[in-house]
Amino acid sequence: MKISASIISLDFLSFEDQLKQSQEAGIDWLHIDIMDGQFVPNITIGPMFLPFCKKVSSLPLDVHLMINNPENHVEAFAKSGASSISIHVENNIHIISTIQKIKSLGCNAGVVLNPGTPAHAIDAILPFVDLVLVMSVNPGFSGQKFIPEVLPKISQIRKMIDQSKRDVLLQVDGGINESTVKSVINAGADVIVAATAIYKYSEGIKAGVNALRCS
Ligand code: DX5
Ligand code: ZN
Repeated sequence: MKISASIISLDFLSFEDQLKQSQEAGIDWLHIDIMDGQFVPNITIGPMFLPFCKKVSSLPLDVHLMINNPENHVEAFAKSGASSISIHVENNIHIISTIQKIKSLGCNAGVVLNPGTPAHAIDAILPFVDLVLVMSVNPGFSGQKFIPEVLPKISQIRKMIDQSKRDVLLQVDGGINESTVKSVINAGADVIVAATAIYKYSEGIKAGVNALRCS
């Protein structure tokens, strides 16, 4: 299981220290949640933030774009140091073109499904991507409750990936903690995203990462 730690919940006053602590605790990727106040109700950060992450961490930057018109912004994120860029299926008419653009910029490309989006929405997209991200909360905020009704969809997408015989990672994002992680892994996830369970864990970042790994 790979862990992608979402920086949305870290304490920005001790940004450098917290990123270093999470890297030392053994996380695999840094998950960067980009929100525009349009596609989702919240606003976070833009591409200018990524070089700061690169300065203090050698981990891959896993960018999750929750924005309208992502095709206008993928180049800026690629140039700022993204390793992978994931875009939602719900608001993209020309999604394959944007995925091809992400790939041509040298990044891995991911497609994201909201909790209400069925697995078959990515039937025609799967052959083009390196990663599928299934949301287990409605995107917009960290600290929400895991939606267990998405578990059958995770299993369904696991089967679709296995049948494709392509090297595609299955990532799940939202409400993942020591109580919910096992169900997500059992359903077939390769990568879990966690913000609250790492950066707001009562006994600290290292203990939070250990709790996810040992649950
Ligand atoms: C939700 C974001 C997630 C989320 C994770 O809109 O995409 O990455 O903030 O936060 P937790 O782990 O607290 O649910
Ligand atoms: Zn995310």
